[in-house]
Amino acid sequence: MTTAILSALADEQRGLIEQLKNPSCQTRAGREFWCGELHGHPVVLALSKIGKVAAATTATTLIEAFGVQRIVFTGVAGGLGQGVQVGDVVVATEFLQHDMDASPLFPRYQIPLYERTRFDCDEPLTALLLEAAQACCAGSASELGKNSMNVSYAVHAGLIASGDRFVSEALESLVLQNDLQTGGFVPLAVEMEGAAVAQVCFDYGIPFAAVRTISDRADDQAHVDFPRFVLEVASVYALAIVNALMRTLPKK
Ligand code: ADE
Repeated sequence: MTTAILSALADEQRGLIEQLKNPSCQTRAGREFWCGELHGHPVVLALSKIGKVAAATTATTLIEAFGVQRIVFTGVAGGLGQGVQVGDVVVATEFLQHDMDASPLFPRYQIPLYERTRFDCDEPLTALLLEAAQACCAGSASELGKNSMNVSYAVHAGLIASGDRFVSEALESLVLQNDLQTGGFVPLAVEMEGAAVAQVCFDYGIPFAAVRTISDRADDQAHVDFPRFVLEVASVYALAIVNALMRTLPKK
């Protein structure tokens, strides 16, 4: 079974490419796809690019052109939920699009013609990803504790909201959360791609799981130290978590 490891950012992907056995690279749709093996698993590594459409193109190409049978997504996100702090890790159980609004034709947040608002992540794959994240983040002695930004390590699991906006104002974050809460949704984090990939995987009936490191609190400080955080923290997390997952992932 070929597994796609989808990364949001090049810094996160670099360590994985370096570890790839028998690497080969192909270009499709203006994207590089790295094929090879990780821990004995056939894998394809790809960058989602930024935003829902770009991520959907990458996911569709992974499935249609490279025949991947499951997708694991790593990246960063802004923390929304209470207690979801910078440096924490959120494993997604489901995704919604916070910028989907076809009202009054369809209820706000509902994906037209799907009769659903949320797309579930695959339960068994998500359970393994959660275990991998917990194993990596446990204890101050972990490799992850040695980053220079001195961040925390809690692991959360729950709903993530995606949309084509980098949420970078406290007020915007508050409005987003209030609106979602009115609709009955309490997301732990916000990012820009996951719900699109979840929808593509739903369309093709393939398992999907996603993990996001919290890089900011989706407020006025959201952009501060973002590149440094990605390089020094999120990339280290992503590599460690993917390695831990690949060690426990069934081969079939
Ligand atoms: N990814 C990381 N931080 C984010 C934010 N504040 N908004 C949207 N996507 C993000």
